Amino acid sequence: MHKRVGGAGIYGMGRYLPERILSNADLEQMVETSNEWILSRSGIRERRIAAEGQATTDLALPAARQAMERAGVTAEEIDLIIFCTNNPDTFIPAGGPVLQGKLGATRAGAFDLVAGCSGYIYGLAVASQFAASRTYLTILVVGADILSRVTDYTDRGTCVLFGDAAGAAVVRPVPDGRGILSFRLACDGSKAGEIIVPAGGSSRPASHETVDGGLHFLKMNGREVFRFAVTSIEKVCREVLDAAGYSPEDVSLFVPHQANLRIIENSAKRLGIGMDRVMVNVDRYGNTSAATVPVALSEAEEQGRLNQGDLVLLVGFGAGLTYAGMLIRW
Ligand code: ACO
Repeated sequence: MHKRVGGAGIYGMGRYLPERILSNADLEQMVETSNEWILSRSGIRERRIAAEGQATTDLALPAARQAMERAGVTAEEIDLIIFCTNNPDTFIPAGGPVLQGKLGATRAGAFDLVAGCSGYIYGLAVASQFAASRTYLTILVVGADILSRVTDYTDRGTCVLFGDAAGAAVVRPVPDGRGILSFRLACDGSKAGEIIVPAGGSSRPASHETVDGGLHFLKMNGREVFRFAVTSIEKVCREVLDAAGYSPEDVSLFVPHQANLRIIENSAKRLGIGMDRVMVNVDRYGNTSAATVPVALSEAEEQGRLNQGDLVLLVGFGAGLTYAGMLIRW
């Protein structure tokens, strides 16, 4: 069920986007698609692609450093690193410890949190429990993914949607009534097959056959995920608003997972939140999975759209199928 919390908030944010741009015109050369189709069905114009040799923690490192600098926190002060990702550099070891080493955050524990594109909201929720209970005072929550490494660039149903990025925030205790007010972490595991990388895990280890069959690429039932997204987003948003005693009119900024502009517009309409109160950057970056929410928050702050006292509503959905909502008093 939803959880009411008090006493944990976001202090500094950062982001990193790889330099290389993959435009709709580029994709027209790779698969049978068109700029018009991609724009009208997803709202995406371009996405960023990690350079060869860049791994997920390489994207996470500059995002983390920026968040720490903005929060005025040194590496030695970090107590815990929660690394939200779906494709770390390697599965053993996890990405969190690798990032801890690169940052020199020698006091920090570190682990990966895998919850599809809802991962960052799950990560903030976990961090809020440690901060609110004063168990850990300085927690770095990073969302980073390189989906281009599991994308099949011959599958036009998925390859136009995804991009690579990293975002980060520092979570610390705040006075009651500020910071994270409520959240709900949810999933429908009966739909686990709707977004899946079928091979490379324990159920189908890597073999010549799995590689030849392209089973290390992400497969998605787009129509089913679309249906799931629009209903779960509205539901979970209303739940976290109710839990804190607010309604959609009170929301200053709605920051949804950036997967598809049509899903964002549809959800905002169902909630009665005008698009002037919605953060959108899916046109420039596509779906960067666990990185969409922290990247969007970091851009919103720079654009002056996050001011002290604002009520900010976050929502995510993705592989699992997971979904999650969170309400923050900025
Ligand atoms: N270019 C041209 N035509 C295409 C393309 C393309 N890139 N992709 C699919 N089509 C075709 C299909 O083949 C289909 O043709 P058909 O009718 O002849 O079979 C037609 O376009 C319509 O396809 P639909 O899948 O019905 O298109 P839809 O309007 O549903 O849009 C999309 C597809 C964009 C994938 C949409 O379903 C969607 O965004 N779903 C949600 C995906 C999502 O948000 N995932 C997030 C989680 S991902 C994660 O967690 C990592």
